[in-house]
Amino acid sequence: MVKGTQRIFEGTSRLFPAHWPPIPAEVRRIANTKPAAAEAALALNRAGCSLVGRPLVEGTGSLSNFTVQARNLDTGLMGAYRHAASELAEQVEGFTFPKKERPEVLVLHASSYHTSNTMDLWAKAREKLEGRCAIHEIGLRNGTLSDCSGCPYTMCLHFGEQGGCFYGGVMQDEVYPAVRAADALVLLCPNYNDALSANLTAFVNRLTALFRQNRFYEKRLYGLIVSGYSGGDLLARQLISGLNMNKSFYLPPEFCLMETANEKGSLAKLPGAAERGAVFARRIAER
Ligand SMILES: Cc1cc2nc3c(=O)[nH]c(=O)nc-3n(C[C@H](O)[C@H](O)[C@H](O)COP(=O)(O)O)c2cc1C
Repeated sequence: MVKGTQRIFEGTSRLFPAHWPPIPAEVRRIANTKPAAAEAALALNRAGCSLVGRPLVEGTGSLSNFTVQARNLDTGLMGAYRHAASELAEQVEGFTFPKKERPEVLVLHASSYHTSNTMDLWAKAREKLEGRCAIHEIGLRNGTLSDCSGCPYTMCLHFGEQGGCFYGGVMQDEVYPAVRAADALVLLCPNYNDALSANLTAFVNRLTALFRQNRFYEKRLYGLIVSGYSGGDLLARQLISGLNMNKSFYLPPEFCLMETANEKGSLAKLPGAAERGAVFARRIAER
């Protein structure tokens, strides 16, 4: 739950040099709630906290983001904001994550086993998972997945109600059923320009149609992230924003493993990587 954006933003503006353009009042009112929340969520998660799906009640400075809820509840903006906060508090108090003897683990990637450091790291983790989980791996390589076309809401809802999406393809035929069946989702993420690669971003976007009909509160989210130099935390925050805060996946403690390896094959030689991969695998298998 994050409120008080303006104060956070005013704090940062004081750090800029005097000639930095002043931040317009409108920007102050709406900016920084999501980044601040994702940053806090990642810090909490790395310290061992789990987060329920959609753990953020976001109050932008004017609370105008509660306009629709306020109308639906026939109350004011503050009333709608408080209502959302109390619903979340109830959920946090009452929620216990269901345990499964042999969880179904869906693994999504868009990389090549022959060349990718990310896949080398996953191979180390996967060998420790074999036999303890049912692993379903899907490669979303170039050309197999179209990005969301941003259909009107009613059209997205219409296709979503039929378990599909306007674009169909591998997402509808293979990925949606696999997400429905999964207890845990593992995304294998090379750092491309400090962001998820295009195919994985398309996956997150295309999940919107499935989300119209399904919630993912009882599915765990994991990320395995490899950067050439740095910036893995940016991708971790992207996963938290897109899949935990937005799409309702459960964030188990220490949900992601971040490594640094640049040249082809260098991850395999990275000291301690195999052990960290094994610890990551154990977290998936035991929770
Ligand atoms: C298009 C592209 C963009 C990249 N951007 C970054 C970057 O912004 N920061 C970084 O640390 N590494 C970057 N890298 C390096 C990869 O993160 C690195 O090769 C890492 O090993 C994971 O990629 P891999 O699994 O394909 O081997 C980039 C690589 C490619 C191909």
